[in-house]
Amino acid sequence: MKVDVLLGLQWGDEGKGKITDVLTPEYDIIARFQGGPNAGHTLEFNGMKHVLHTIPSGIFHPEKVNIIGNGVIIDPRILAKEIAQLRERGAKPEKNLFISKRAHLILPTHRLIDNVCEASKGKAKIGSTLKGIGPAYTDKVSRNGLRMGDVLLKDFRDRYENLKQDHLRIINSYNPDKALMAIEGLPLEEYEKLWFEGLEYIADIELIDSEIFINQSIQEGKRILAEGAQGTMLDIDFGTYPFVTSSSTISAGVCSGLGISPDKVGKVFGVFKAYCTRVGSGPFPTELLDETGSRLRENGKEFGSTTGRPRRCGWIDLPALKYAVMLNGVTDLVMMKADVMDEFQHIGVCTQYKVGEKIYDFPGYETLNQEIDPVILEVPGWESSLQNFTNWEKLPEKFRHYVRFIEKSLSLPISVISVGPRRDQTIVRLV
Ligand code: GDP
Ligand code: IMO
Ligand code: MG
Repeated sequence: MKVDVLLGLQWGDEGKGKITDVLTPEYDIIARFQGGPNAGHTLEFNGMKHVLHTIPSGIFHPEKVNIIGNGVIIDPRILAKEIAQLRERGAKPEKNLFISKRAHLILPTHRLIDNVCEASKGKAKIGSTLKGIGPAYTDKVSRNGLRMGDVLLKDFRDRYENLKQDHLRIINSYNPDKALMAIEGLPLEEYEKLWFEGLEYIADIELIDSEIFINQSIQEGKRILAEGAQGTMLDIDFGTYPFVTSSSTISAGVCSGLGISPDKVGKVFGVFKAYCTRVGSGPFPTELLDETGSRLRENGKEFGSTTGRPRRCGWIDLPALKYAVMLNGVTDLVMMKADVMDEFQHIGVCTQYKVGEKIYDFPGYETLNQEIDPVILEVPGWESSLQNFTNWEKLPEKFRHYVRFIEKSLSLPISVISVGPRRDQTIVRLV
């Protein structure tokens, strides 16, 4: 069997969590391969809404194995809170959740470094979620980091203290004020206490060599879905650098983030919204700063699942989507949240970028750093509610036209259409 991949094609928050949960019955194992608690994946079913940060979105299916892979970074305090919330909802993560020993730890001081670095950038700030993502991945790459498996070592506390002292030297060089030295409103020593309590709390979640577990599972014919976090345009290499996250969010990241070879990758589900959003700073060619943008935000409840920040909204961006399809080798598209535009008379679609007199079909190296004039094609809206449809054939013709138009533009089938936040508001089309 191959490992199928599900990931975001835009700037995150496409609805990956919902679709992973919907597709979980088709798989035996769901595995996260990158990112950390900067992610916020929302699931809605049985009148309940749940946001996951580090844990894969298959966790509510007790018979399915969920793995936090080696490419993920973990804040034990945040993971402990997530696990406690799952238990309140009747889940038993000690039975179906496993963590890679190679997954790196986010220390409290990584979060302080994030605070001071962002503050020092002033207007050029990235708009980080301030969960310590950049600093923790930096330590991984510079070979200074601590990993989940290290927690079991006798001298773990010494290693922790050494790294913390290194971090404090960095932090002090910024001369931070008191506000920047707080984590979730707490001074370092208090957050650190919760962090160590978190480590103890998650001790009953088994640590494994997940790369071996996953490869053996492939050989045994188990079906595996790799769940991405963030989105292609936030990828460390191909996103809108430097306004990106610090991991490989694209399908290539699955190989290093789970320890599988490229020939083991099967389908790649590319998830995108029928419009576009971005949270944090950086280029966003189709952003709408007008009433239409506000309507998308209000109708789509576009406020961050992790930080609560209002998301920037705009029309769908086909050049960026084409680029994302190319980078990921997408085989199946998944279209989310078209219902948000139910009342719109016209819907804008960006087909190309215009910079001065030049036309671009893709976001190349220079393109996104210039003043882009998006070429917008207006298509008619369907002006009726999509939320109760479960059947492709019965959907309004104007909506079907929109779907076909996107399929044609991206030369790929849209295999799943989501028309509301709930599990049951999903149309699976076997094209
Ligand atoms: P993720 O990070 O990609 O998992 O996405 P988020 O959970 O951060 O953001 C997606 C938001 O849209 C969540 O609040 C979902 O409940 C909601 N959502 C998902 N699919 C749909 C949909 O088809 N229609 C509507 N209206 N909301 C949706
Ligand atoms: P999910 O998985 C949307 C954005 C931040 C910021 C940039 C860098 O829910 O789609 P970081 O905390 O990684 O240093 O932030 O990336 N960002 C996300 N935006 N959805 C996410 O995750 C994101 N994770 C990070 O807003 O612009
Ligand atoms: Mg999200």
